[in-house]
Amino acid sequence: MASPTEHAPSPPREYTKVAKFFHWSMAAIIIIAWVIGYYGGAMLHYGVDDAETAKKVTAIVTHKNIATLTLFFVVGRLIWRATHAAPPLTEMPEIMQRLTHLGHGVLYFLMVAVPVSGWANSSSAGYNIPVLWLFDIPTLMSKSPAVTPYLVTLHWFLAWALAIVVIGHVAFALKHLLIDRDETMSAMLPRRKS
Ligand code: HEM
Repeated sequence: MASPTEHAPSPPREYTKVAKFFHWSMAAIIIIAWVIGYYGGAMLHYGVDDAETAKKVTAIVTHKNIATLTLFFVVGRLIWRATHAAPPLTEMPEIMQRLTHLGHGVLYFLMVAVPVSGWANSSSAGYNIPVLWLFDIPTLMSKSPAVTPYLVTLHWFLAWALAIVVIGHVAFALKHLLIDRDETMSAMLPRRKS
C-alpha cells in the first residue's frame, strides 16, 4: 500500500537566503570589478599624456578598492557552502551532473585565484591593497618589481578565464530558465511570497 507521503509533491528546490545573498552580491561585485579592471588595465595606458595616466591610476585604484571585497565574500561563501549543502541538482544525465560540479568547482577556484593574483601583483609592485576606501589589508609579498609583469599576466589570464566561465554559467542558467523550464534558476532567485 502506498504510504501517505509517497505521492506528496517534493518541496521546491531552493538555496538558502544566505547562499542567495553571497551569489548575487559576488556576481555584482565581480562584474563591476571586471569592467573597471578592463578599463584601467587594458584600455588606458601609461606614458600617453598626463590626463590618461591620471585616469588609469584612478581606474586601477577604484578597481582595487571594489575588487578586494571579493576576498571577504569568497571566504564567507566557502564557509557557508562547506556547512550548508546545496539543493540536489535537477534531474539530468550523470555526465551533465559531473560537468556541472566541475564548472562550479572551476568558478570557486577562479573566485579565489583572480583576487589573490591581483593582490599579489599590486603587492609586488609595492602598492597598498585598499578595501572600499576604508582600510588596507597587508601586502602578500615584499616589493619585487622583477616579478610584477609575470603576476600582471597571471591576473590578466585568470580574469579572462573567469569571464569565460561566468558567461558559460549564465548561458546554462538561461537554458534552464527558457528551454528546460526547470527549477534550476528559480532556486537562486528571491522567492515570491505566495
Ligand atoms: C574578482 C576580482 C577581480 C577581477 C574580476 C579583476 C579583473 C581584472 C581585469 C579584467 C583586469 C584587466 C586585465 C587586462 O588588462 O585585460 C584587471 C587588472 C588589474 N587588476 Fe584586477 N581583478 C580582480 C581583483 C583584483 C585585486 C583584488 C587587485 C589588487 C588588490 C587587482 C589589481 C589589478 C591591477 C593592478 C590591474 C592592472 C594591471 C595592469 O595592467 O597594470 N585586481 N583586473
